[in-house]
Amino acid sequence: MNFRIGRRRRIFEGKAKVLFEGPEPGTLVQYFKDDATACNNQKKGTITGKGVLNNRISEYLMVKLGAIGVPTHFMRRLNMREQLIRKVEIIPIDIVIRNIVAGSLSKRLGIPEGTVLPRSIVEFYYKKDELGNPMVSDEHITAFGWASPQEIDEIMSLSLRINDYLSGLFLGIGLKLVDFKLEFGRLWDNDELHIILADEISPDNCRLWDVKTNEKMDKDRFRRDLGRVEEAYQEVARRLGIMPEITALVPESEKP
Ligand code: TMP
Repeated sequence: MNFRIGRRRRIFEGKAKVLFEGPEPGTLVQYFKDDATACNNQKKGTITGKGVLNNRISEYLMVKLGAIGVPTHFMRRLNMREQLIRKVEIIPIDIVIRNIVAGSLSKRLGIPEGTVLPRSIVEFYYKKDELGNPMVSDEHITAFGWASPQEIDEIMSLSLRINDYLSGLFLGIGLKLVDFKLEFGRLWDNDELHIILADEISPDNCRLWDVKTNEKMDKDRFRRDLGRVEEAYQEVARRLGIMPEITALVPESEKP
């Protein structure tokens, strides 16, 4: 177990990450685990080295997004599995952006996987594990006060910008950005409220298909027992030019 885990105050433990109190007020340390879950927690497993790769991949993408003016919670990477982030108040909505039909959209509407959408679609899901994260509309979100209409507008506009940018970035390395999930949070700066990108962007919450072969290079390899899961995450990192040294495959339990 990581030395830092025992030392810091644990704020929250999710399925793939742990949040610890940060070194300064208003900061947190985000620790990336190798644990993987799917099908609403019914399927559990470990993807060796995933935490290391996702830490790097998410850092890379958040820094790139920051450079084009998307505000993010990312501050800096601390080590192989941890990054320093700004503490935000998470908006309890998962935002899914889709470019190609796959996964739950294919199942729900009976449209074959791989159908290219006439335009990108943004969906909202209420973050409530006990309820299986149900899909909701902006009407539910505003009626129940999870976010204001202005916040939804901002989230929509940021999500579409992120989609445009990341679609191009991934296409440049031979990957189609099929769909992905984002989370946003609120940050108060003096009296001003900002909506900023939070959580992570990695093959855990993106669908990435090889442009030439349509091979799946993401967590669907784990969800659907397709094998070569670790290799897919490594290949994404390699294509991004950030494949960390051989330590990528060191399991969490064997870390110093
Ligand atoms: P879906 O097809 O299962 O609705 O997933 C759409 C995208 O959102 C896919 O890239 C996986 C991602 N996603 C998450 O990261 N977390 C979730 O809880 C869900 C439901 C989807």
